[in-house]
Amino acid sequence: TDPTNERKIEHIRAIERDPETDRNGHWFDRILLTNRALPELALDEIDPSTEFLGKRLSFPLLISSMTGGDHELVRTINTNLAIAAERCQVAMAVGSQRVMFTHPAAEASFALREHAPTTVLIGNVGGVQLNYGFDLDKCQRAVDILEADALYFHLNPLQEAVQPEGDTDFRGVADKIGAINRQLSVPVLLKEVGAGLSAADIALGLANGVSHFDLAGSGGTSWSRIEHHRRHDGNDIGIRFQDWGLPTPVALQQAAPFLDRATLIASGGLRDGIDMAKSVILGASLCGMAAPLLQPAMESAEAVVAVIERLRREFITAMFLLGTPDMPALFRNRALIVQER
Ligand code: FNR
Repeated sequence: TDPTNERKIEHIRAIERDPETDRNGHWFDRILLTNRALPELALDEIDPSTEFLGKRLSFPLLISSMTGGDHELVRTINTNLAIAAERCQVAMAVGSQRVMFTHPAAEASFALREHAPTTVLIGNVGGVQLNYGFDLDKCQRAVDILEADALYFHLNPLQEAVQPEGDTDFRGVADKIGAINRQLSVPVLLKEVGAGLSAADIALGLANGVSHFDLAGSGGTSWSRIEHHRRHDGNDIGIRFQDWGLPTPVALQQAAPFLDRATLIASGGLRDGIDMAKSVILGASLCGMAAPLLQPAMESAEAVVAVIERLRREFITAMFLLGTPDMPALFRNRALIVQER
């Protein structure tokens, strides 16, 4: 058996067995928004649609990177997510595509364009893998199999550092990402996986020609805690570091000075349409969620659609109560924040 392929299932099982992998940081609850008693708007005329990577989305939701591989369950998850993304016209990213290269049968789980012919689809590879044999040809192959609109490089030094055999040589990764970005057929996006991109990371990404950053901060899924469940040597470093990192609203504020040059995606611990509205106010063009969509994705496309429709309704309701008729009225409108605790 191929460890890269088996690992994807171990991660899902760890999340199912231990609800505390979702750290429930409630960081967004510290932000208090205003309430308009005279919104001077009709709820029905709120327009939450937005453009991302040149495509129209019904509202600024991204199904964040989760999975892929040669397993029935994993194929089911990705197919259900893709069908729901297309039906609701939201963006979707796949999980790490490295498994395609160790286990070619995994390719089928990433061939999602047939299920999502029009919406934004984003590929995913590990940035550090560029130091471990991953090259431009593989990145392009990852894009091509998905017919992706863009490619995420995930940056996960914490997750690698708490594994006994993690890939921890991150030297020169920013330069290598820059070189790929210049030659790949689609734009490169950077993301963390739940510990947050810092201002210094964004500056380094921008210097290497990258302009899209998914902050993937702490407060939601903890990869340090998940990796703890995969180690059986009594070492508890994964628990020690389970809450390490920049909470997503803090990461958004740190990134704000770059907003004239950078497009931000908020993810990590967003759990409802109110968290989404707060993220857009803090400068996010798109809001990602992973863990809340995992269980529904194992069930059916309809179950995923139901969660997305709930989020859309919550997001529109927040916009109504803030007196913001459309995305430009909400985006970076810090006057809507009355207090940060
Ligand atoms: C993830 N995440 C992730 N990220 C990534 O870049 N590549 C990957 O392969 C995966 N795999 C993965 C699997 C599962 C089951 C989950 C829940 C998450 C991280 C994810 O994209 C996101 O950045 C964080 O999970 C934060 O979002 P939530 O879960 O707090 O909404």
